[in-house]
Amino acid sequence: MRTRVAVAIAISVLFSIGILVPAFGQEMKSIQLPEPKFDSSKSLYQALKDRKTTREFKSGNLSPQTMANLLWAAWGINRPDSGKRTAPSAYNKQEIDLYVTTAEGAYRYDPKGNALVPIVAKDIRELTSTQGYTKDAAVDLVYVADFAKMGEGEDGPKTILAAADTGFIGQNVYLYCASEGLATVFRAGMHKEKLAEALKLRPDQRITFVQAVGLPK
Ligand SMILES: Cc1cc2nc3c(=O)[nH]c(=O)nc-3n(C[C@H](O)[C@H](O)[C@H](O)COP(=O)(O)O)c2cc1C
Repeated sequence: MRTRVAVAIAISVLFSIGILVPAFGQEMKSIQLPEPKFDSSKSLYQALKDRKTTREFKSGNLSPQTMANLLWAAWGINRPDSGKRTAPSAYNKQEIDLYVTTAEGAYRYDPKGNALVPIVAKDIRELTSTQGYTKDAAVDLVYVADFAKMGEGEDGPKTILAAADTGFIGQNVYLYCASEGLATVFRAGMHKEKLAEALKLRPDQRITFVQAVGLPK
């Protein structure tokens, strides 16, 4: 009996630290992230000096704290009273959703709940790149514009606004990575249709860009 309990505890620890991954098709649960905490960040000046694109990654996961900080810096809620965010958005439509693809599966960032909502229990990171160099990045962020949140109007203007809104989020990610010594590359090159299918997007949810984040080599 004791042995069984010990084995069950060991397995759950291995799952929680990412050494074991859930079998494909197994039900995924929402992941509650820790509160974002910024103790040792560099100055903004230093982060701007260090901001750069890096295309070489060492394999390895981001800690839950780093994931929480990264997502909050990217596109978290910085004014809870109004629900406004760390990046601006045209007409405050907040149409960009941040999808997070990891070795364990794909999730959608829920900024209100500070959580990752499961989408698919499958490693789809390879679809985020037409260039192989991001394969070892811990996370590939997929920026998805929900055109349904942008009101009436043509796709053309919506596409421009969504691209601009994504750019602000991408720069937040660049600055966070610079401040924490992480590697990142913002990209247009991806397998867009296959990625949209894997993420179960509706036709009016459009992928704008992707951005890998991981440990530097
Ligand atoms: C809109 C946009 C699209 C980009 N697409 C790609 C891409 O598909 N692949 C890639 O390796 N880098 C991509 N980049 C990164 C740029 O190549 C990179 O920012 C540029 O070389 C300048 O380097 P720096 O970011 O270190 O200043 C993209 C950057 C932007 C802003």
